[in-house]
Amino acid sequence: MVDQARADAYNSWWQFRNDSWSRLEEATARINSSRRRGRAIEVEMTDAVHEQCAALAPLEQFWAFPGHAAFGIVQELAAAGSWERLGRLVSRINRALVTESYRTGSLDDIAHVEHRADDDDMVFGVSHDHISRPYFEVLVVETMSLAQEEQLREEVHSWRRPGDPFIYDLVVVGSGIEAAVAMRLNANIQACVIRRRFSHAAVRDLTRLANFADATLSNDLADHSPDERAQILAPRLAQIRPEVDMYLMSEIAVEDVAGKVSHHFRRVFHAREGALELHLTILAGVAERYRTPFFEALRTYSQRPTGVFHALPISQGKSIVNSHWIRDMVGFYGLEIFLAETSATTGGLDSLLEPTGPLREAQQLAAEAFGSRQTFFVTNGTSTANKIVAQALLAPGDIVLVDRNCHQSHHYGLMLAGAEVTYLDAYPLNEYAMYGAVPLQEIKSKLLALRAAGKLDRVKLLMLTNCTFDGIVYDVGRVMEECLAIKPDLVFLWDEAWFAFARFHHVYRPRTAMEAARTLAGKLRSPEYRALYEASLPRNESTEALLGRRLSPDPARARVRVYATHSTHKTLTALRQGSMIHVYDQDFALKVAEGFHEAYMAHTSTSPNYQILASLDLGRRQAALEGFELVQRQLEYAMKLRDAIDHHPLLSKYMHCLSTAEMIPEKYRASGIAQPLRTGLSNMVTAWEQDEFVLDPSRVTVYIGLTGVDGATFKRERLMDKFGIQINKTSRNTVLFMTNIGTTRSSVAYLIEVLVSIARDIDNHAAEMNLAERAAFERSVLHLTNPTAPLPDFSGFHPAFLSQSDPPTPEGDVRKAFFLAYDHTLCEYLPADDVDERMESGESVVSATFVTLYPPGFPVLVPGQLFSKEILSFMRSLDTPEIHGYQPALGYRVYTAKALEMLAQRPGS
Ligand SMILES: Cc1ncc(COP(=O)(O)O)c(C=O)c1O
Repeated sequence: MVDQARADAYNSWWQFRNDSWSRLEEATARINSSRRRGRAIEVEMTDAVHEQCAALAPLEQFWAFPGHAAFGIVQELAAAGSWERLGRLVSRINRALVTESYRTGSLDDIAHVEHRADDDDMVFGVSHDHISRPYFEVLVVETMSLAQEEQLREEVHSWRRPGDPFIYDLVVVGSGIEAAVAMRLNANIQACVIRRRFSHAAVRDLTRLANFADATLSNDLADHSPDERAQILAPRLAQIRPEVDMYLMSEIAVEDVAGKVSHHFRRVFHAREGALELHLTILAGVAERYRTPFFEALRTYSQRPTGVFHALPISQGKSIVNSHWIRDMVGFYGLEIFLAETSATTGGLDSLLEPTGPLREAQQLAAEAFGSRQTFFVTNGTSTANKIVAQALLAPGDIVLVDRNCHQSHHYGLMLAGAEVTYLDAYPLNEYAMYGAVPLQEIKSKLLALRAAGKLDRVKLLMLTNCTFDGIVYDVGRVMEECLAIKPDLVFLWDEAWFAFARFHHVYRPRTAMEAARTLAGKLRSPEYRALYEASLPRNESTEALLGRRLSPDPARARVRVYATHSTHKTLTALRQGSMIHVYDQDFALKVAEGFHEAYMAHTSTSPNYQILASLDLGRRQAALEGFELVQRQLEYAMKLRDAIDHHPLLSKYMHCLSTAEMIPEKYRASGIAQPLRTGLSNMVTAWEQDEFVLDPSRVTVYIGLTGVDGATFKRERLMDKFGIQINKTSRNTVLFMTNIGTTRSSVAYLIEVLVSIARDIDNHAAEMNLAERAAFERSVLHLTNPTAPLPDFSGFHPAFLSQSDPPTPEGDVRKAFFLAYDHTLCEYLPADDVDERMESGESVVSATFVTLYPPGFPVLVPGQLFSKEILSFMRSLDTPEIHGYQPALGYRVYTAKALEMLAQRPGS
């Protein structure tokens, strides 16, 4: 079965399941239509019904809707050939699945199907009210018979009250291994109750779900008492879905158990006594994640009549609704947004600069959701978040290691902080004119060089981008471990502007900064690691030896000090500029808290936008409750997009999606897997566990060299002007399509349609070209498919801005170079050819400014940096329309020869 194979490969079981229900409905409808017209039922139609039933059979047990009973009836009706009844039932189920009406909590379509023997119809459980409220499912892990399961379900239904904020139903599995499968498959699960008796081995056949079944789990559970099993299972389930509330139901003395249970359990209940209490606790657990304290405070505040006697005329829409000329503003935005415009810090609201109420709570809830120790909301994007962290951690003269391709905000932040900067080079992808990420060897060698120069005590911070614009993801934990082995108190800033969503999927999560920090802290605390470390105490090794092996930090000295910045607005729900800073720093209170506060004050507006803050609160709620579902769906759509492009006969003639192997050289892929996700979820998991770099599959870089159209023109003229498709980044021969949690199947289909239409235009044009046109087309293709100038490495600072040492190390003082350029008599503009000429004659040419390509927004030149031949040829080969800091009419802003002479006489001044 083709679809089955695809579902295995791409982890796209949800689409697979939905498609199977739709196909089942279609097949029964065809049968019924034939019957009504008095035609014979063709075998292929009935085969299709049985095939879809067989495809659904292993899956349905993991969802509460439509549930065992209903699916059992579907199977019975199909086997008996009761086509009319089957048609009605399947169509109802499918409608509820497609429209997701079963999740609105109005109960009409929720719950199990009852088979009424005296009625020729199947009806769903009847509602006892019609209030719409969020619906979720609770996983119960216990071996029980179908009858017991039904009884439990009925008991749970009897506890429902009209005033309950949510409604839920049960999914029952009889083994630990099936519980893990359910957690991976069913995003509706928000709570899990582990009862005492469950089997270690699968109760049902899981052969077709092998990709989701953790084979080691059943061995780990075997030979343990029921209590021990629960303790083993809880952390394993939490690894998959840490946000799911976990409860233990025990039949033995709960008072004894309570003191020993894993911290993963929110509470322990006694099996006989605790049922109703458990029900209420389950609702309260979900309510805790649902709570949005700042959004609620703002909403309440906006409904209060207030007199505004301070400087915010727009507050409560007052300056607009009475206007004769700008009333359309209300028409467009709606009144609510203005009702919520306020700068009040009291009356139920809070102050961003000194939060003590709902904002503080909102940030604490975000810390829980994102796995940090502290989280801070930022209303001016990650551009500001990065500057806050840099300033909080650095004092003038501190040394920082930073990816040269980091976003410009880091470079400005370091300049403001007065740090000395060692730029790290990412591996180049010359063929596609883009950079990859910084290899661990490069980081270690720079750290070891600083150690050799006796400067390690001044090294404070390592800054890297995870993941990069193009989707290259680091092995965050390994980078930190090896760096801490060299410099035990090194602080890390992971710019996860593009990676806020990653926390909410079990494959991505281990490669996020916060999760890697938590794992590392646990490892350093563990007696096993300490014993292992002591048994292999470091010897006196050469730099080569240290570069050649995996280094382990000293658990007695290493500190886990990790910061991550998220553009929440880029990958989760938040208004533009809504960002967060997440902190996992064991020394925060002791060493950073005050500096952080000052830095936060320095960069934060005293009039922060409350709408942005409320949207961060809501974005967190959404991620905590449906992040997994949204990310999983995004992943499935991204894979659909990749497939559709690569398997389309016309599209694949002109374009293809760059694979992991094309974007990550083999030496960084220890697993040797060239296409991790396409070849199966377990391959993806392996690659994500082992490889130095992996590719985020949700970012689809399409190679368009063969179209003869460069990336910038493709974006502007073909995608935007003609079809209104917006994309962010291009290179000379690629365009990047980013899927996000808002991507729909229809938007993917539209994109494919557009790409096919573009390819058809090119194809038609190619078929009718005259000789001259053909020659021009071939020249364009040749130009785009041949790598031109290699991507330049960081060329180095002019000696005047270098920090002196023996042996020399490459860090430079960007701030000095930046501010020196404020003296305009020391600078001049130089066209590229003149820069070339000066270099030819042996003179140094030094940039006086940042020269930044946008997108992606990293500087090719920083103040104080030497020009090189490679930089000039790279700049000449660029198709990027936006280059900040370079004026084509005037040239580059550089230091005059006289200024350099003067600096040479007074280095370090
Ligand atoms: C890696 C990286 N960091 C930070 C930023 C800045 O984020 P924001 O737009 O939230 O200010 C960007 C923006 O594109 C980015 O790509």
